[in-house]
Amino acid sequence: MLRRLHPEQPASFAFTPANLDWARGQITKYPEGRQASAVIPLLWRAQEQEGWLSKPALECVADMLGMAYIRVLEVATFYFMFQLQPVGSVANIQICGTTSCMICGAEELIEVCKELISPQPHSLSQDGKFSWEEVECIGACANAPAINIGKDYYEDLSPEKLRALITRFRAGEVPVPGPQNGRYGSEPVSGLTSLQEFDQNRAPYNASVQRAVDLGETVKRIDGTEVPLNLSWLRKEDQPVAQEQAAPLSDSPAAPAGEQPKGLEAARNGEADDLKELEGVGPALEKLLNELGFFHFDQIAAWSEAEIAWVDQNLKGFKGRVTRDKWVAQAKLIASEGLEAFRIRAKSNDY
Ligand code: FES
Repeated sequence: MLRRLHPEQPASFAFTPANLDWARGQITKYPEGRQASAVIPLLWRAQEQEGWLSKPALECVADMLGMAYIRVLEVATFYFMFQLQPVGSVANIQICGTTSCMICGAEELIEVCKELISPQPHSLSQDGKFSWEEVECIGACANAPAINIGKDYYEDLSPEKLRALITRFRAGEVPVPGPQNGRYGSEPVSGLTSLQEFDQNRAPYNASVQRAVDLGETVKRIDGTEVPLNLSWLRKEDQPVAQEQAAPLSDSPAAPAGEQPKGLEAARNGEADDLKELEGVGPALEKLLNELGFFHFDQIAAWSEAEIAWVDQNLKGFKGRVTRDKWVAQAKLIASEGLEAFRIRAKSNDY
């Protein structure tokens, strides 16, 4: 993961008086000559104040601790808990993309974030409230796929559940963190097979979720308010637009556009083409296409502009992929030149 300072930086940074007092208190916890040990709490407080860490903020912390700037930069660029670019004022959603989560559907969660927040990671949603990024293992592998929202984990997710979470956060709610599929902790989905008496006497939430519920700080920063976005120094085109101008972050499906292509009840002769041959189509999209009645390359090759528009609008969680990945051109190539020739040309995106 490449972690660099944002190309656009504010001119200065200063702790608020309350945060400055707090930071000075932290420094006194360490013996003379060991003040650098306070670097993580100070960086964290600077981030809570501003939402992210700018170069002036790193320099301010370095000056307070008598550290070389490069040493503080090393810390800030090493841990992905530190944000090096502006993040959403409500939350920066971190999606684990490592093995367990990837196998269990992290890529589909990323598609939801691309659709509901921004096509690119590390950039703000139109209303400035959300951003997202893919991160490495967050240590919740037994409850994959898992994500971090604010200070807590949401686990056992599906694209639909993530959509619902984002919608609720946007509405000002804070859904209960932890497993989202009814699991209590990391027990088998079908329930405990031993120590079942535990099941009868347990508290409503597991200890970690209970702590999160008690603290109520999932997306709070310091005083419980959203961090106001102060991006006056940012390039105009990178600034979020006002809420009233922003496209709604709705999880309800957009009105269907175009014309629905005629699908089939089932694959011809019971033998579907392997639609995953198309660049950009994975198992989830293939399943979706089959559900819509598309099993063969020649069906896709025959879609008109209006039909492409309809399919693009109706690929739940993958809207716009037909156009983006040129499925029709790919399918036409397979139909006209065969799979082997297509595979060779696909390597250089020659379709
Ligand atoms: Fe996702 Fe470990 S692989 S939490």
